[in-house]
This record gives sequence, structure tokens and C-alpha cells, in this order.
Amino acid sequence: MRFFRINKLPSGNHLIINRSDLAYLTGVELEGFLLLIAKKKAAVFAPELLAGQLKRLLRGVEVIGGENLTGLLVQYCQRKGLKSLGICGSKSSHAFFSKLNRKINLKDEEDIVANIRQVKDSQEINKIAKACDIASSAMRYAEKLLKPGKTEDEIVFKIEEYFAKNKVRPSFPIIVGSGPNSANPHHISANRKIAVNDTVLIDLGCVYKGYCSDLTRTFFLGKTNGLQQKAYSLVKRAHDLALLKAGPGVLASEVDKVARDTISQAGFGDKFIHTTGHGVGIDIHELPRLSSRDKTILKSGMVVTVEPGIYFTGRFGIRIEDTVLIKKKGKKVLTT
Ligand code: GLY
Ligand code: MN
Ligand code: MN
Repeated sequence: MRFFRINKLPSGNHLIINRSDLAYLTGVELEGFLLLIAKKKAAVFAPELLAGQLKRLLRGVEVIGGENLTGLLVQYCQRKGLKSLGICGSKSSHAFFSKLNRKINLKDEEDIVANIRQVKDSQEINKIAKACDIASSAMRYAEKLLKPGKTEDEIVFKIEEYFAKNKVRPSFPIIVGSGPNSANPHHISANRKIAVNDTVLIDLGCVYKGYCSDLTRTFFLGKTNGLQQKAYSLVKRAHDLALLKAGPGVLASEVDKVARDTISQAGFGDKFIHTTGHGVGIDIHELPRLSSRDKTILKSGMVVTVEPGIYFTGRFGIRIEDTVLIKKKGKKVLTT
């Protein structure tokens, strides 16, 4: 049987429906099946097209195949005398939740698995570190390609090709934002040609054995003006101070505060229009959030990004992002 992390769940009966939670608990990266953990026993409900595959992958686990998964689940619960279930990841499927709720008492346990997933074990950390190594070398490769006349898309396709050669996939749509496009934090890269004195923002990451990396660098191609220089050194300072702050025992919100205060005190607070970072793992965006509202205490084994940025609409934007492992003492920056 594959590894199974169900012993990490608190006692009680749980239904897991979210793709990433399922991948975490079972090691199977397939979408569209349900995992029920009830009375310390696992059962899987899957459409016929997945059931055979799941039986082979999850030897020793009862796999119930059929087309009406909620019906099969209700029958199973009735047979086992289960009256209530905690449902994890429920917000992702409201229709599913209400259909089932008519037959079984459901308790919303949305973040139970997401919370457990925040602290990574050594195998997970090794995979993320490898994803970060490949992302870092992809960034060095991409930097060399930046020339006036090249389009954003050409650079994106080259990075995708680089990832493919290294047997990994992008962990999100790669961002190459040139000139004014660099001012869109989540720019959709297009056929704009890079111009002589452009700012170019590249945000890339890959998935290695199911685990993500996330890295942003901002480049100046030619001459820079005073504002560009000032903005860059400010973002760099905010990034470095936030990194310095990050470590075990520190609140996620405190790391955000350091970056935000640095940028606000320089008068650019209104241009820092996103949070300072987020957890990274099976998903590119996980808990915790490095935001003013997140009171999570950072712990050894958590992996987060630190990514302050400031954006001048219609002109240029700067972001510097690294993926960082929180350690027993201090932290390690995994991207370079
Ligand atoms: N690449 C998306 C992000 O930085 O959050
Ligand atoms: Mn990113
Ligand atoms: Mn990020």
C-alpha cells in the first residue's frame, strides 16, 4: 500500500474531497474521488473510470466504484451507522455539500487538512527544495534571454521548455511582465515586445514530485530612472527585513508588518497591493498567509514565500520573491 497519512487527522469521522488534501493523505494525485475516514478505517468512493486504478494504487483500502458517489456514500454511512461527518474542503463544492447534508449531518471542517499540511516533513521539504533549485536555475536561464524585441510569450515558452527538459511542470502560469505590464502583479503574458529600457518582472515556479516552488525577480534592461532605482531598493529592503524577521515563534502577521511598514514609511504603502507571502507545498498557495490578519505562529517545517512588491499602474512594477523554509533555528532561503 502507498503511504497513508490518515493517522495525522484528529479522531472523528472525516470526508475528504479536495484534490490536494487527497494527494497529501493518500499520495494519489487524481481528482474526482472521495476519501472517508470513519471509525479509523478508510474507504474510497470513485467513479468507475477511476475505481480500478485506485484499487491498484491503494491496496488494502476498500474502494467503492459507481456513478452516484453521494448515493454510495450515504448507503455506506447507513450500513455503518454513521450519522454525522466532518467534511474537509467543503467550500470548494457547495452543491455537493447541500446534497449530502439532506441525508447526513455534516460539520464544516474546511481547513483541517490544510492546517496539518502547513508543517512539512523531511521528504516534503526535499521535494520543495528540489523544485526551488530548478526554479532558480530556470530564472538564471530566463535572465539571459531578456533582449529588446523578444516577446513576453517567447520567454514564457522558453521557460516552459526548460522545465520540460528538467522533467517538471510550471506550478502556475508563468508571468513575464514587461514595461507597463510589470505593474500587473498577476500579468497574463502576451505578445508584447520587450523594449529597450523596460523593467521586466518574471514570476515562475515548478512542481517536482507533487510539490511547488515560487520565485520572482525584477530586471532592468537598460537605463533606469530615479524612481525605478528608489522603488527597487525599497522592495529589496522590505524583502530582506521581512526575511530577517521570519523564523520559528514569529507570527505570520509580524512578517507582513515588517515588509508593509518599510514600504509605508517610504510613502508607497498604497502601491503594495497584496500580502507579503503565502505557504507553498502541494498547492502554490497554501496556509499560512503572511498577511496582517493571519495570527499563525510560524513553526519549523513550514514553507512560505516572502514577496513584497510595489506597482505603478501604466508604468512599471517591482516584486522580489523567495521561497523560504522555517527551521528550528531561523530559516533557509530555498530559492536563489
Ligand atoms: N506566483 C504567484 C504568487 O507569487 O503568488
Ligand atoms: Mn510567485
Ligand atoms: Mn507567491
